[in-house]
Amino acid sequence: MLILSEISKRFENTVALDRVSLEARPGEVHALVGQNGSGKSTLMKILAGVFPPDHGEIQLDGRVVRMTDVARAEQFGVGIVYQELSLFPHLSVAANVMMGHEVVRGRIIDRAATRRAAEEVLRRLGVRGLPIDSPVRALTAAQQQLVEIAKCLAKRPRIVIFDEPTASLTAAESRLLFDVIRQLRRDDLIVLYISHHLEEIYELADRVTVLRDGTVAYSGPVTDVDHVTLVQHMVGRRIEQFYPRRAGAPQAAVLLEADAIRAPGLDAVSLTVHAGEILGIGGPVGSGQTALAEVLTGVRPATQGEIRLKGRTVRLRDVADAIAAGIAYVPEDRRTEGLALNLSMRTNLALPLLIHRHAMANGVGFVRRREEQGHAALLRTRLKIKGDVDRPVATLSGGNQQKVAVARWVGLDADVYVLNDPTKGIDVSSKVDIYEAINQLADAGKGVVLVSSYNPELLNLCDRILVMYRGRVVREFMARDTTEEQLLLATASAQ
Ligand SMILES: Nc1ncnc2c1ncn2[C@@H]1O[C@H](COP(=O)(O)OP(=O)(O)OP(=O)(O)O)[C@@H](O)[C@H]1O
Ligand SMILES: [Mg+2]
Repeated sequence: MLILSEISKRFENTVALDRVSLEARPGEVHALVGQNGSGKSTLMKILAGVFPPDHGEIQLDGRVVRMTDVARAEQFGVGIVYQELSLFPHLSVAANVMMGHEVVRGRIIDRAATRRAAEEVLRRLGVRGLPIDSPVRALTAAQQQLVEIAKCLAKRPRIVIFDEPTASLTAAESRLLFDVIRQLRRDDLIVLYISHHLEEIYELADRVTVLRDGTVAYSGPVTDVDHVTLVQHMVGRRIEQFYPRRAGAPQAAVLLEADAIRAPGLDAVSLTVHAGEILGIGGPVGSGQTALAEVLTGVRPATQGEIRLKGRTVRLRDVADAIAAGIAYVPEDRRTEGLALNLSMRTNLALPLLIHRHAMANGVGFVRRREEQGHAALLRTRLKIKGDVDRPVATLSGGNQQKVAVARWVGLDADVYVLNDPTKGIDVSSKVDIYEAINQLADAGKGVVLVSSYNPELLNLCDRILVMYRGRVVREFMARDTTEEQLLLATASAQ
């Protein structure tokens, strides 16, 4: 049995945890939920020896243990799959999976045996088709996440911590992971599971602990608490309306048109976005949604086809072209593409503004400090971002980093906004804030392209939905006349 008692942790002025206690038993999946910044990752990092608590203790099998560092915690059998990726991008899949646990003969690493051991771990995990000798940087985000999980399980831990493991996995990959977790439960391991997808909690977990502002708001069996009550514990109030209604409707005027676009991963995709319209892009993750978003925003050029903005053909060779044309982009992988992690929240929020001025003024634009401060304060309030504006973005919680990444582009005055899975890793109530921001854009007559891996979001937020599969648009739905079953069926039957 694992007991965390009265754990407290402060980061300068931030109280991340305030006397948090938690008990987890072998053979149980214990879920940890809470809003962005509520202290989930911090608590798990303390258990994994990443940093020490200021106060409180950890007991394992009735003995007080000190997780002085990561290696020590590993000796006690603690394994963690971090929310942020922790792989070595230039090393192979096999090397990453077996990092620190290589098979050695004498003093020399036996590469062949290590490779075989990695293969064995992946096989046990049920993962097929991972290029085991390729450098990890060549893999997709989902594949990297699988490597991350394999790396944790290779150490044969008895306590396994998953910090939002499904954030970049496809539905099928998530199923695979759930099977693995159920197996870990049967093997009598202690599983701690963090997720913002409450359906997953109900599907997987035996117990759930809710953190709110660094304290425990609820802890007990999952069966004792329904969805609405769980959210109430997280937020401290009832949320009735998860999908806020919109005032306006799509207009006749066409803002953005794409005609028979081809690019790597895209096969003759056409679409139209009207003023005031939210166009959803769905389908199985990895069907070309990101390629489409990137072509529409100049991140990758189209090899064929035409893009028109307000009837005029535009050439998008890079992001600056797109910004100058009036197209803003919230990328999917915010950690690598979205943010300058060592710069402050204020600077990050203002950067797109600066890029915009540069793009419009041929490289001589600038932003005054006062303006930057005002801009940052506005966006921060609008998306209720938690954290210090003057501190590096790296010190924010995972979800709050994502909010910064979304806010900064939403704050630009563009005609068309392309958002790639903007609520990934974001807590339930902050999602509502982002939905409201998206609705406001549409109501102001902007065009919105919303790529989402979450069907309820597409159905409730969008006017129209395009379903993609293998780089093509295979179906189109009017959201109002479509049920979740119909959308799911279309997505499934496309495969
Ligand atoms: N290294 C750090 N330096 C300074 N502050 C930090 C650091 N790590 C976390 N914090 C702060 O501690 C608080 C809790 O963060 P934590 O990462 O534990 O939240 P979380 O519940 O995991 O949120 P999310 O759902 O967004 O991942 C936040 O206010 C965060 O800004
Ligand atoms: Mg976290």
